Amino acid sequence: MRTLGTVGEAAGFRTTAASPLVLVPTMGALHDGHAALIDAARMRAGREGTVVVSIFVNPSQFAPGEDLARYPRTLEKDMDVCLRHGADAVFIPSAEEIYPPGDSTIVEETELARGLCGAARPGHFRGVCTVVAKLFNILRPHTAVFGEKDYQQLAVIRRMTRDLFLPVEIMAHPTVRDSDGLALSSRNRYLDADGRERARHFPAALQNARALAEQGETSVSKITATARDGITAGTGSAPEYVELVDAESLQPLTRLDRSAVLAAAVRIGETRLIDNLRLNPPDGKV
Ligand code: PAF
Repeated sequence: MRTLGTVGEAAGFRTTAASPLVLVPTMGALHDGHAALIDAARMRAGREGTVVVSIFVNPSQFAPGEDLARYPRTLEKDMDVCLRHGADAVFIPSAEEIYPPGDSTIVEETELARGLCGAARPGHFRGVCTVVAKLFNILRPHTAVFGEKDYQQLAVIRRMTRDLFLPVEIMAHPTVRDSDGLALSSRNRYLDADGRERARHFPAALQNARALAEQGETSVSKITATARDGITAGTGSAPEYVELVDAESLQPLTRLDRSAVLAAAVRIGETRLIDNLRLNPPDGKV
């Protein structure tokens, strides 16, 4: 496995690599969810292709006061995960390489990025789009793999890729969960034992709301109230948001009459968790 430490090395690697190249962009602190993304990338690339994992804690997607400084950094373990799951190279640039002095260009998706997490974290998706566009331009992957846990991020990146005619296939991978349902996230390691116990009620509340929809409920206010009340009662924290949105446009719905996503965020102590579930209308029409 090659370690690519600079933009020059990464760009050079691409020109000599066999096709196709599949990229897994990460911020490190890799867990089994990332491992599943790397496995999927390996499958997509096949024997002839090349899998590159980027590990870069991107400062521009953190607002002042967020957890940039304490974001978990576990490089040695991350390298081991990449190696064991068949990555061919790991790209680990410095912040100065990605944002050199004088860097003054941003990439912003202006529609899908507005609600949900975008409302609570202004500028977050601008940082994500800017770094992902840079990674795409440096490595020129054929395919890039993203997890569905960050559903809005996935939608925003798909839209950016489409709008900017970036020649990259965006591949989604289902959320990987712990045995009690909690979606795997690098931020789960911030939780202490009490927080971790409270956290398991978060996905459970979303599942209860989905069960209500599966029983025929189409009123979005009733579905989201079930989720909101369950999250508040189970985790001891009122959610930052609970919304049922159109799966494509991310626009809030009033009736569950199309393919939708139930998305939520909650803070348990200092730890902000997000999750989402797909919901279909009761008659199955999507
Ligand atoms: O999902 C993440 O880890 C990050 O937002 C990403 C896509 C690697 C961009 O920094």
